Amino acid sequence: MEFSVKTGALAKQRTPCLVLGIFERRQLSAPAEAIDEASGGRLAEVLKRGDLGEDVGATLCLYDLPGVAAERVLLVGCGKRKEFDRARYVQACTAAARTVDALGAGAALSALPALAPNGLDHYRAAREAVAATAAAVYRYTRTKDDKKAPKHPLKRLHLWVAEKGEQAAVERGVQHGLAIAHGVAQARELGNLPGNICTPSYLAEQAQALGTEFPGLRVEVLEEADMEALGMGALLSVSRGSRQPAKFILMHHQGGKAGEKPVVLVGKGLTFDAGGISLKPAAEMDEMKYDMCGGASVFGAVRAAAELDLPINLIGVVPASENLPDGAANKPGDIVRSLSGQTIEILNTDAEGRLLLCDALTYCERFDPAVVIDMATLTGACVIALGKHPAGLFTGDDELAEEILTAGEASGDRAWRLPLWDDYQSQLDSNFADMANIGGRDGGAITAACFLSRYTKKYRWAHLDIAGIAWLGGKEKGATGRPVALLAEFLLRRAGALA
Ligand code: BES
Ligand code: MN
Ligand code: ZN
Repeated sequence: MEFSVKTGALAKQRTPCLVLGIFERRQLSAPAEAIDEASGGRLAEVLKRGDLGEDVGATLCLYDLPGVAAERVLLVGCGKRKEFDRARYVQACTAAARTVDALGAGAALSALPALAPNGLDHYRAAREAVAATAAAVYRYTRTKDDKKAPKHPLKRLHLWVAEKGEQAAVERGVQHGLAIAHGVAQARELGNLPGNICTPSYLAEQAQALGTEFPGLRVEVLEEADMEALGMGALLSVSRGSRQPAKFILMHHQGGKAGEKPVVLVGKGLTFDAGGISLKPAAEMDEMKYDMCGGASVFGAVRAAAELDLPINLIGVVPASENLPDGAANKPGDIVRSLSGQTIEILNTDAEGRLLLCDALTYCERFDPAVVIDMATLTGACVIALGKHPAGLFTGDDELAEEILTAGEASGDRAWRLPLWDDYQSQLDSNFADMANIGGRDGGAITAACFLSRYTKKYRWAHLDIAGIAWLGGKEKGATGRPVALLAEFLLRRAGALA
């Protein structure tokens, strides 16, 4: 999709579809007011007939409004003006995009960003409009003919701004929004691909492709032999139960000064998690193709940073493997030695994510990182604790917690902090190894984070458990691309690109 910015008298704009916001009780937004005037009060008249629903995101398409150059005028319900916040704004943008897409108008001019939702400046309003629109028209087509695909899908969206003075901020918002949208789309696509296509090797190829697309990006892939030589015994023990070789993917974006400490993003890249010998139940096991969404979010964030050429040093790390039952697979009670030297008693082979991550996190020491953040669909317990709205955030670093929570709020891709107290650590005690890989039923998301904390003592670190937010179930089944927006926001702030 393409996005650009337009300014000038709204009624005179030639466009296949002009999008206007309408508040509850037929209250016109300022742009709608202008169109109402140009049409001699026609807009208000039509609204009086009551065909536009009161819900946020309700739509009504009008044709041939007198005095208006647009071929169609799409009215979008925005709810109560006082309550019009980021979430409702995004809802309205999404509804508008879906409707225009289905109408087959091909292109549209949206005046929604001019509504200045509470708490959003022009930059943000533009950025959110772009991200929401791109997400709304995303379609998965890789393994399925999309018979319902419109003949003329929405390809081009112009954002209308009232004043020339706003244009620069809005253009910046469009640029950032588009890079984030591309990152989100990549994360969604990788997440949605089935386990028989999206294997660890496939992820490695995608990383190489990203390196080709962005020549500044240096991509490196460690093979199992390399990991063996390094001593990544925990990661390799998971991969041993699978016929697909594990890959350890590294993506270096060197946008900052030489010698500047890098931000390192680590993502769990479990391309299918059957649980191993501790086999998962059959119901919904297909959803475990999403167990690489942490890794996918690293791809998305790295793509956004590369596309914006952010002045920051960034390293993306994706340990990738399958977790399957097999004669060579981990068995409950097996003990492995991690790259850190610490031994682990594997009491449940389904707690495999932490086995990948612990070796990846130890590997990160060599980068002398400014900060390391890992993303993982790590525990069902996190979904029980927090549901599907925030990611679970774990860190002992209050300042870093604040930075991540703020990035979440600002981007609308939120996280919620859970404790990482030492009180929980003893749940990982083992009689036979330095630690067990599970800590019992109580506080499962927390003990998983406690496990990781034992491998991150040498640098500033935070962990995001994204098991609840990385994909949707039911009718809307599919990857969400979260938390790419949070990560991009974090990087933009660190890079001083928000000013
Ligand atoms: N990938 C799963 C976590 C998961 C489960 C994410 C359900 C989303 C939905 C992870 O590898 C896993 O199996 N975790 C176990 C840990 C347990 C054995 C301590 C879990 O959460 O049940
Ligand atoms: Mn598992
Ligand atoms: Zn898993």
